Amino acid sequence: MARWRTLTRLAAVAFAAATVGGVALAAPVSAAPENSDVTPFVVGGTPAAQGEFPFMVRLSMGCGGALYSPRLVLTAAHCVGRTGNNTTITATLGVVDLQSSSRIQIRSNYVYRAPGYNGAGDDWALIRLASPATGLSTLPIATSTAYDSGTFTIAGWGSSRENGPQQRYMLKASVPFVSDSVCNGPSSYDGDVIAAEEICAGPLSGGTDTCQGDSGGPMFRQGGSGLVQVGIVSWGNGCARANYPGVYTQVSYFSSAIRSAATSLGG
Ligand code: ARG
Repeated sequence: MARWRTLTRLAAVAFAAATVGGVALAAPVSAAPENSDVTPFVVGGTPAAQGEFPFMVRLSMGCGGALYSPRLVLTAAHCVGRTGNNTTITATLGVVDLQSSSRIQIRSNYVYRAPGYNGAGDDWALIRLASPATGLSTLPIATSTAYDSGTFTIAGWGSSRENGPQQRYMLKASVPFVSDSVCNGPSSYDGDVIAAEEICAGPLSGGTDTCQGDSGGPMFRQGGSGLVQVGIVSWGNGCARANYPGVYTQVSYFSSAIRSAATSLGG
């Protein structure tokens, strides 16, 4: 099982490379599914309303992210290169429509990739923007496991079906928590989930999930006061397949490391 997991992650990287330059961003939303068994938005999503999730970020390598602070975007390690100065990433913010004339676009100036990231686990990174994003609310991260269960919201501009095109308009969906014992069970990921570091979510019947291009984006829910980020889109076996929920970086596990990295980057 470890082998396909690696393949899945490699595929995501190849995808990211293929979308540099924003080609995929320009692709129109598919008008109709090719197969009538497949709902238009296989990830089970519906369009997000403008302003509904102001912290959502689209990154030019073909990933999602969340505004952690006005200058910092929390994303997945597998979406970025090594830690260091990096001015190659463009973040698009403040819109559900990536082509909107009111979109905000800001370049990166630094990437911090989780230390020790080697393709399995530790799938988080911070991207520092060259100037602060103003007028957008940030998404606080979960600092305890208190919110690591229940029903979560996922959102992004990734594929609306396995192997489908990237989306112009942000989609959102709700997904239920899946326990490590089920997610790592013999009829599911069979030991490939790093239980302490990863959290699974999605209906076991399939049909709703994040997918390629959603990586790095947040999974969140209602916390004590407003929304709180509990996950980062990381990997899965295909998309929305029965018995294969999405696997997310468990933000609560890394919250201290994320916080100190953020401080070292100037907040
Ligand atoms: N690794 C993918 C990406 O780069 C995200 C995969 C999420 N897959 C899933 N079935 N939830 O965009």
